[in-house]
Amino acid sequence: MAANVRPVLAEDPNLGETVVSEDEIRSRIAELGGRITADYQGRPPLLVGVLKGAFVFMADLARAIDLPVDFDFMAVSSYGSSTKTSGVVRIVKDLDVDLSGRHVIVVEDIIDSGLTLNYLRKNLHARNPTSVEVCALLVRDGKQHGDLDLKYVGFVIPPAFVVGYGLDVDERYRSLPYVCTYVGPEP
Ligand code: IMP
Ligand code: MG
Repeated sequence: MAANVRPVLAEDPNLGETVVSEDEIRSRIAELGGRITADYQGRPPLLVGVLKGAFVFMADLARAIDLPVDFDFMAVSSYGSSTKTSGVVRIVKDLDVDLSGRHVIVVEDIIDSGLTLNYLRKNLHARNPTSVEVCALLVRDGKQHGDLDLKYVGFVIPPAFVVGYGLDVDERYRSLPYVCTYVGPEP
């Protein structure tokens, strides 16, 4: 077993195959950080992390951007504790900062139906930012994302439900350093 795999988690029978490894995440974030650094010269971005899932990705992404970056967070709820979307989005925690004149990058863990992101975009645009782009670590394949205008995407992944690197099932597995499938019971 590799030294960086944690035995207790690695032996959890609810966890399936690795979908994105730690190394893949690290090198992709370095690329995304480099692109954002080049794209935002002279107009430092405000990263808006979507809690809770994006907190791990946001921490690593921010440190890969060679610019003075500001941070804020929103918490929205679209899933409850289930692995199926409820179709309902509501703001649980709103932003602290004023968006007018800011270059916003929304940092998301995963885009599935796009419902959460669609709602967020409309909501953020109404606050007069100068620009809004999206940086998503994961995009689930097989859905129609063309109209979502995702500028920065880490990985397109297969349909299976995944956990790790910020993503949870019923608040579990967020601290896994990689992304893997969840094969346990519905919470
Ligand atoms: P959407 O609104 O259907 O695009 O769902 C987006 C949100 O659902 C994400 O921000 C996640 O919090 C959650 N989500 C979607 N798929 C997964 C998954 O495979 N694992 C964990 N959370 C997920
Ligand atoms: Mg979630």
